[in-house]
Amino acid sequence: MAARAENFRCTACGASRSKWSGRCDACGAWNTVVEEAPLSAGPARKSLGTRRGSRVELSDLASEEKPPARTISGIGELDRVLGGGLVPASAVLVGGDPGIGKSTLLLQATAQFAGAGLKAVYVSGEEARAQVRMRARRLGLEQAPVQLAAETNLRDILTTLEKERPDLVVIDSIQTMWADSVESAPGSVAQVRAAAHELTGFAKRRGISVVLVGHVTKEGQIAGPRVIEHMVDTVLYFEGERGHQFRILRAVKNRFGPADEIGVFEMTGRGLTEVRNPSALFLSERDTPAAGTAVFAGIEGTRPLLVEFQALVAPTPMSQPRRSVVGWDGARLSMILAVLEARCAIPFSGLDVYLNVAGGLKISEPAADLAVAAALLSAREDIALPADTVVFGEISLSGALRTVAQTESRLKEARKLGFNKAIAPDRGSTGPSWGPRVRQMPDLVTFVGEIFGAG
Ligand SMILES: Nc1ncnc2c1ncn2[C@@H]1O[C@H](COP(=O)(O)OP(=O)(O)OP(=O)(O)O)[C@@H](O)[C@H]1O
Ligand SMILES: [Mg+2]
Ligand SMILES: [Zn+2]
Repeated sequence: MAARAENFRCTACGASRSKWSGRCDACGAWNTVVEEAPLSAGPARKSLGTRRGSRVELSDLASEEKPPARTISGIGELDRVLGGGLVPASAVLVGGDPGIGKSTLLLQATAQFAGAGLKAVYVSGEEARAQVRMRARRLGLEQAPVQLAAETNLRDILTTLEKERPDLVVIDSIQTMWADSVESAPGSVAQVRAAAHELTGFAKRRGISVVLVGHVTKEGQIAGPRVIEHMVDTVLYFEGERGHQFRILRAVKNRFGPADEIGVFEMTGRGLTEVRNPSALFLSERDTPAAGTAVFAGIEGTRPLLVEFQALVAPTPMSQPRRSVVGWDGARLSMILAVLEARCAIPFSGLDVYLNVAGGLKISEPAADLAVAAALLSAREDIALPADTVVFGEISLSGALRTVAQTESRLKEARKLGFNKAIAPDRGSTGPSWGPRVRQMPDLVTFVGEIFGAG
């Protein structure tokens, strides 16, 4: 019997497999594995055989060419996330949950790029022309020199672009595009990949920058943006919590700039506005210090950012206590709880633990460990941390505190926002003379003893 064809595929990560399962074992997503139509008739894939190819030109690494000039949109939060503006002939993927504001962001960005001199085309596959125009009017952009198309047929779109030769084209969204060379339905992994491949290849050949919008899908038949991340130069995700007006644009991959850079926006009736000083935004009202909170002096990308961790610790009626985390890694929380128990003899068994990052931000820096521990201890002991204090430092399994990068930027941001004290692991210095007074902690036991009088 021939090897079974792998005709089931995960729509979240694109992994293929020979049988269906409820959970993808490549990416862990639920209900994302679907059966795909087998590749259409035709000979099975042949090896390249013995026919000779033509010779490929080889060259030195050195080049006289200058890096191509980037275009600045003037939306500072966007330009920074792109690595300093839009690179010509680059392919950018903007992923995000349905309704988060992708079309709004991209219509505003397109209008700005058009204003900066780029010939720009916006292709909507999701909304009728009238709908896009209504949004443009609401955003005050109806006079922007942007050319609009409402189309899903990729062949027609490419033909049009070939004639028009724009500098920038936005495709909203890649999941609505339909390449007639592929038999599967629009939105399937095969269609989304084929359309992205065609568009990025075309863009590179013609020197056009292409921005692809991709909906993050939780389950079902529609392929998510992850299946095309490898094809593009830059991957941005647009994130935000339901019920919060703040939106974060995060670079998760960038061939032309640092990844992990974030841009912060606020969604208003007139569209997205930039938040130039996000630290102020992510701190809740802090007139009186509250138990269960700690302000973390973090770094997101190249920018320092103060964020507040909030913890609640309460006795549980359950045999298995709850561990609920929003905006931070659940496994990392377990590790910190284990270290507190093993090294400081502070158990959390029998206690429910809730941990949140205020403002809907997601933090992934290990430098936040000490702030997390501070919030947890403060909640457990019902003792507020000293006012005007920021906290940072990585916790190792031994309970030692590790120095983290960019201490000075963290302290500068803290000072800028009126924090006069810092708790940090740095053993080398007491901090710069201009900055907050730094209390140095060599390990977690010392921290617990000095700040909470326990341990
Ligand atoms: N009239 C309005 N006033 C204020 N905010 C609005 C208005 N209309 C839409 N919005 C905001 O814009 C959001 C939708 O934005 P947008 O259509 O850009 O999102 P999207 O990510 O493109 O969504 P989709 O998944 O439908 O493509 C809404 O959730 C809402 O917050
Ligand atoms: Mg949209
Ligand atoms: Zn998967």
